[in-house]
Amino acid sequence: MITRKHKHLLHQIIPERYRLMLHPDLERFTFRGEETAYIRLRKPMRVITFHAKDIKVLKAEFRQGRKAWKPRRIYYIPADEHANFEFGESLPKGKGELYLEFSGVLNDQMRGFYRSRYEVNGKTHYMATTQFEATDARRAFPCIDEPAAKAIFDVTLIIPKGQRAISNTHETSAREHSSGFEIVEFAPTPKMSTYLLAFIVGRFEYVERKTKEGILVRVFVTPGKKKQAMFALDVAVRSMSFFHKYFGVPYPMPILDMIAIPDFSAGAMENWGAVTYRESMILFDDKHSSLANKQWVALVIAHELAHQWFGNLVTMEWWTHLWLNEGFASWIEYLAIDHLFPKWDIWMQFVAQDWAEAMHLDALGETHPIEVEVTHPDEIGEIFDAVSYSKGASLIRMLAEYLGERDFRNGLRHYLKKHQYANATTDDLWAAFEHIAKKPVRVMACGWTKQAGYPLVTVQESGKQLVLRQSRFCSSSVTAARFKNDKTRWSIPVGIQKVGKKRPSYVLLQDRQTSFKRSLFGRQFKLNSGAIGIYRVDYPVTLLRALSPLIGQQKLSVPDRLSLENDAFSLAKAGRVPTVAALALAENYLSETDYNVWLDLAGHLGAIENLISGETFDGAYKNFARSLFAPLARSMGWKSRRRESHTATLLRSLALTQAGHYGDRVIIETAQKLFRDVIIKKKHLDPNLRGVVYSLVAKSGGLREYRILRRLYQRATLHEEKNRIGRALGFFRETGLIKETLQFAVSDHVRKQDAAGVLSAIWYNHKGRELAWSFVRKNWLMMLKRYGHGGHILPRIIEPAAQFQTIEKAREVERFFKTHKAPGAERTIRQILERIYSNAAWFERDSAHIAQWLEVRQNKNK
Ligand code: BES
Ligand code: ZN
Repeated sequence: MITRKHKHLLHQIIPERYRLMLHPDLERFTFRGEETAYIRLRKPMRVITFHAKDIKVLKAEFRQGRKAWKPRRIYYIPADEHANFEFGESLPKGKGELYLEFSGVLNDQMRGFYRSRYEVNGKTHYMATTQFEATDARRAFPCIDEPAAKAIFDVTLIIPKGQRAISNTHETSAREHSSGFEIVEFAPTPKMSTYLLAFIVGRFEYVERKTKEGILVRVFVTPGKKKQAMFALDVAVRSMSFFHKYFGVPYPMPILDMIAIPDFSAGAMENWGAVTYRESMILFDDKHSSLANKQWVALVIAHELAHQWFGNLVTMEWWTHLWLNEGFASWIEYLAIDHLFPKWDIWMQFVAQDWAEAMHLDALGETHPIEVEVTHPDEIGEIFDAVSYSKGASLIRMLAEYLGERDFRNGLRHYLKKHQYANATTDDLWAAFEHIAKKPVRVMACGWTKQAGYPLVTVQESGKQLVLRQSRFCSSSVTAARFKNDKTRWSIPVGIQKVGKKRPSYVLLQDRQTSFKRSLFGRQFKLNSGAIGIYRVDYPVTLLRALSPLIGQQKLSVPDRLSLENDAFSLAKAGRVPTVAALALAENYLSETDYNVWLDLAGHLGAIENLISGETFDGAYKNFARSLFAPLARSMGWKSRRRESHTATLLRSLALTQAGHYGDRVIIETAQKLFRDVIIKKKHLDPNLRGVVYSLVAKSGGLREYRILRRLYQRATLHEEKNRIGRALGFFRETGLIKETLQFAVSDHVRKQDAAGVLSAIWYNHKGRELAWSFVRKNWLMMLKRYGHGGHILPRIIEPAAQFQTIEKAREVERFFKTHKAPGAERTIRQILERIYSNAAWFERDSAHIAQWLEVRQNKNK
């Protein structure tokens, strides 16, 4: 393969500026383009190579001053996504212009230059829009499509009259073109990477407001949705001011646009000055949106706007350093939202979401280091995962703590100033911190980015000493056996929280094992204080016993309570402590009041429910789980209290969902009644309760409820509402209805971007998993056609297969993917297999003990 040889086209050619004119045809779904690329050849060459994919070059010419060369031959290397222009003689090195005319297809794959469907007054229309990250600018125009190949772009769009064109910068002119068309020119962009370019053509309404600093922020939506854009506008305006102050660098353009796109494969995309979103990630409806969604919208906006600096102004040198973008943005979105909405207690959600997610994924043998070599576009697409995002974010959080707020922020400012309009590597970030903080950052940090996985810290008491030992943590005994001789070591700042003390103290664990004076720790202590560190802790039984009662007495902080049970359940799954010990620990949380602790617990309890589903004692397990959630659900009730806290509202939905799921009759019946009130009496249902109501109605319902929900899906205009109902459609228990939902998910009624959500609900339904799996197998070609080739939806379609629990299933999955390609999902498949084998071993080891423990417990409670 030639692929590896030209890893970087930038080694041959430096692009400086692209003049670009695009003319989408919204009826035929094609486009035409005209381009002048101002480039510099680093040496004389006969063949100019650009990235291009699914583009037909109609005309090409290379110009240097008054001289012009026509290529002798234009040929494509599809495997490399290259277009080659071969000239009859060697072109002289230095500056020149490559002039091109080309055509392409406005595809329905949600990548490159594509089309998206929308309705206005019952009439269907299409817009043209772009999604270029990571490597799809080359689908819209030939270019050097690498993040380090920064250039200036002068964009011109030819659009149907009466429609609107949006691009990264503001419009400088709009003139009549040939009959019925308009030609719109945009100001030159800042020097930037190709993946950040965007152009959108369609019918839009917008709302606007200026920031304190004078930046005009606009939010564009398809006609009729203007009201739902107000919340996003407010968050954006305030976030821009926050980042302006925090980074100490102004936003370089007069306008920032945000656009809601009905068909969108990711969640949102930070195109410089023209940020695009899925509708569900930007729209907020006062009457119909849940608080959970509101919070999510705010976080997503803060994330994308942080990229306007961290990512757009300073960009990673290559995708190996993707985490600089995504890990950082995934951290600072919380900082910004905490500032904007101090009552949301958002940092705790960081622990339950990102920290826990990172620890979950990165405990696999089939994980990867944060910094990982990637070449092929499919490989690049694969690393937009929880390692780059959540582990990256957790590392940033750990460092911010280690450096202290001031040095951390000043380090960032130094980094942005130094590398603005250019590129940077992970090492450059460490250098910036060292420059400011005068602390050895690199040696501490690089272990976390260059090595896969994270450590388990084992505590041992030995006389007047406490011995801390580190080794790589594996989420399964099967994997642990493979990593038996693993020598990876990390530099771990171990936070010690002495009970009753305000602030934690730190010791540094660098070697495999270190002894510390017992007195450093006090009588009662918890390690990894605040769940700041990326590591787990294994306590000796005596210490753990001493910690347990502190949970109920709330003598530990929220993150400490969360990480204590999170560690316990993870160690149980790994075979390091009995699962029944974790279940017993969970009983200490009966009086827990924190939403995030419950959220995390619910996940672990659900994993065990899944493990033993179909066993004779599965009813006893449900009783146990119900005994935890039912009292909580009762105390929360169905009605929100006046002026209750933000997380109380979130906790209510969670508690009711869980208690109902584990079979609380009263709660299920109330859900059914609320549903009837909506259908028959047309009563308004609190959007925070809709998820619970729909899901419990589906879980306990039949054909009648099914038909009603299907009708509601069709009628819903708010995307968020469609998603809620779509998931519920996957929760029915009857085979016939599940099969119908499977067909429905891939029908014209469900947008391609939303099908994964519906399918995933079926995968997680114990009655549906086998059906989902055989549906996906039977329709694999269709799945590939819809989502294949490096998109990030394909992995999501199969990921839930990791819930299977038997060796036979693992073999079945393995066999299937031996003969069926899954481009861009290869690592996901290896992770699925590892998880299934892990479940099988877990079941084998612990299920009988769980059964016994449940029986004893039930007898005790009689
Ligand atoms: N840069 C990404 C968008 C992206 C994701 C492009 C994957 C290509 C592949 C954007 O900043 C992002 O991270 N979006 C997230 C939402 C975010 C708030 C977590 C997404 O799309 O999931
Ligand atoms: Zn991002």
